[in-house]
Amino acid sequence: MSNIKLNAAKSAIGLIPEKGPIGLGSGSTVAIFAKELGRRVESGKADVSVVPSSYQAYQLAIEFNIPLTNLDKNPELLLTVDGADEVDKYLNLTKGGGGALFQEKVVASASKKLVIIVDESKLVEKLASRFLIPIEVLPFSLGVVKRTITKMGIEPIVREAQKKMGPIVTDNGNFILDLKFAKPIDNPAQVAIDLKMIPGVVETGLFIGMTDEVHVGTEEGAYILKK
Ligand code: A5P
Repeated sequence: MSNIKLNAAKSAIGLIPEKGPIGLGSGSTVAIFAKELGRRVESGKADVSVVPSSYQAYQLAIEFNIPLTNLDKNPELLLTVDGADEVDKYLNLTKGGGGALFQEKVVASASKKLVIIVDESKLVEKLASRFLIPIEVLPFSLGVVKRTITKMGIEPIVREAQKKMGPIVTDNGNFILDLKFAKPIDNPAQVAIDLKMIPGVVETGLFIGMTDEVHVGTEEGAYILKK
């Protein structure tokens, strides 16, 4: 995707504090961001440590020599930079395309500021326009959660693993259900609550009212959407 993701990443790099703990999201755009962050740390311009939001983010931090910390040492983070699968006009998000939504949401919730890096293809009028809504489900509860969701008029699809037989297993040992709605969601805040209330649903990929800024990469550079 040429320089689009890089331009989004570089735009967010400008927000990195000189010092302190920050959150590192997950995904292919964050991987580009992490490389830039590593350069900034190496040059001495940023004395930061990161809480990774997935095994992928953990490995990125190691690869690019970014110091690691955790939420026990740093329960409050200055900033988190993460990607998204869909962004609506209120900056609500769908996340979890890479299966990392649960820890991502915890890290985002610990952050004073959530900055999202995307390309323009992620911008939608309403969530569930192009992307299925992922939820993380305790394996023990899969059957009953599928039944409940089907009764709500939503189609639950078990996410299958690549290069492993059967469902994907998340970093937390759970399964992912991708939810196919009949139409884009009018009230994502209520949907997020309804889904989270189902026993056995560990977390949803709907990030409601959490985003402060979205840095949208283009061929020419990036522009910023603010809350
Ligand atoms: C990981 O599960 C996701 O929430 C990612 O942040 C999201 O899928 C965006 O990833 P890309 O930057 O690869 O599109």
